[in-house]
Amino acid sequence: MNLRLFQIVLLLLRTKALIMNKNTLPQLFRVMASLWIAIAVFGCSTNALANEDSFPLDKAPNRMNNQAALQRGAQLFTNYCLNCHSAHSVRYNRLRDIGLTDEQIKENLLFTGEKVGDLMKVNMSPTESKAWFGKAPPDLSVEVRSRGADWIYTYLRTFYRDDSRPTGWNNLVYKNVGMPHVLWELQGDRAAKFEEVVAHGGASEHKFAGFEQLTPGTLKQHEYDDQVADLVAYMSWMSEPGQLERKRIGVIVLIFLAIFTIIAWRLNKSYWKSIH
Ligand code: HEC
Repeated sequence: MNLRLFQIVLLLLRTKALIMNKNTLPQLFRVMASLWIAIAVFGCSTNALANEDSFPLDKAPNRMNNQAALQRGAQLFTNYCLNCHSAHSVRYNRLRDIGLTDEQIKENLLFTGEKVGDLMKVNMSPTESKAWFGKAPPDLSVEVRSRGADWIYTYLRTFYRDDSRPTGWNNLVYKNVGMPHVLWELQGDRAAKFEEVVAHGGASEHKFAGFEQLTPGTLKQHEYDDQVADLVAYMSWMSEPGQLERKRIGVIVLIFLAIFTIIAWRLNKSYWKSIH
């Protein structure tokens, strides 16, 4: 993050120095080059939020442009998550944007008499859920923006049996989490193996050493991962429904810049030709 800021400041200083210079046309060319560098820097720096916990995160597959995946994810989300969590900045009819008709929304995603224009609310009251789980389930409308897609993708795939917890479940990414493993029927029951490893300082460390499948789920491991990927893709879309549109605009801007760069380059060439 800091490195990125530093690069931007450097770039701004450079651009300013160029503009202060007298020869405008060659500068124009160089300014264009700087712009491309800026785009490259922004493009390369992905999710800036580092994982503070030590458990390594798996990369969530990017399925934002895959409507079928988003639709499957929406179905999983309304089936399994809306019982406890809300997504109160999303209306069901917003799902038209991922290609669902009102009829499909009504038939597949509404269970308790909601209307297509309703917000994704939850029936359970926060006090009730707090009493049950120790913590109220947070609204998930923008969860991907706060935790990151990789975090959620790994979180939903690393639940394990732990009888010392009130729900009977624990999680590798979110230790002692209050949420039970709601997708356990799909993934099956798993225990986690840990081993004691002596760290550099001599202190021993409790280290994860693999899962043990206790009972099979209805899905195979890779099928489960695949479904969770769809679910996370849907949650990413939900966090920022405008992002597909924004990406399209971004592409148009890039094309425009490319054409403009060529013009600046040609102008620059003919400018120097008349001087020599
Ligand atoms: C039985 C109720 C219940 C269901 C169903 C449920 N959750 Fe949760 N969830 C919780 C509770 C309670 C917490 C808060 C746990 C805590 O902070 O210890 C939570 C926390 C979370 C968090 C972490 C929030 C944060 O940033 O701290 C995520 C992500 C999450 N749930 C996603 C999901 C998804 C996705 C589904 C659907 C597959 C789902 N949950 C279904 C109860 C539920």
